[in-house]
Amino acid sequence: MDQNQLKALVGQEAVKYVQDGMIVGLGTGSTVKYMVDALGKRVQEEGLKIVGVTTSNRTTAQAESLGIEIKDIDEVDHIDLCIDGADEIDDDFNGIKGGGGALLWEKIVNNASTKRMWIVDQSKMVKRIGNFGVPVEVIPFGAQHVFNAFEKRGYHPVWRKVDGGEKFRTDEKNFIIDLKVGEIADPRALAEDLIHTVGVVEHGLFLNRVDQVIVGTDNGPKVLDVPAK
Ligand code: A5P
Repeated sequence: MDQNQLKALVGQEAVKYVQDGMIVGLGTGSTVKYMVDALGKRVQEEGLKIVGVTTSNRTTAQAESLGIEIKDIDEVDHIDLCIDGADEIDDDFNGIKGGGGALLWEKIVNNASTKRMWIVDQSKMVKRIGNFGVPVEVIPFGAQHVFNAFEKRGYHPVWRKVDGGEKFRTDEKNFIIDLKVGEIADPRALAEDLIHTVGVVEHGLFLNRVDQVIVGTDNGPKVLDVPAK
């Protein structure tokens, strides 16, 4: 199976966990796109009644086009189930997210969710996270100083750009700096360092933030329950 088929299958598997009346967090990315398509199908064909809370403007646009009711995160007091993608997941279920630039809203929605599920194809499962790079969202004011500080710390920062031109802007109009750190020996220490850097809004290290992972394998979707810590 090619990667897109694996993504489609995990997307379809994930929506089986959605029940009538749920408030559902809808992530961002190419895998989530398949999931939202499958969810829209259930809404249209079964009359499934749910409310979605999205993690990006593009997921909002897709979900609304399929007839899924969307509410702002501040209009709900909790989210029952958040279904999102990931860029890498290690053996301890630490993840890197933000390849699509939506990490800030994704972490906020993740934080408000009772159950958090990630859907990935098998290429995302790694021994140690880091080779993907760590996306960091920074406010534009003074962003070059943050970039320089990362360079001094040996994090090998790279500005995320749109087609090699303008700097990429998130839905909050911030910039993304991708840190090309390679495999991370101590993700928690790096996360602490990043979040305490003035100008950083949020980073893409998602540590201890998932309850279930559905992995697309050549033998079909594999459901992994994350042991409670
Ligand atoms: C969006 O910012 C990301 O966190 C995505 O969830 C992640 O990049 C996975 O995306 P794909 O499903 O497109 O690989």
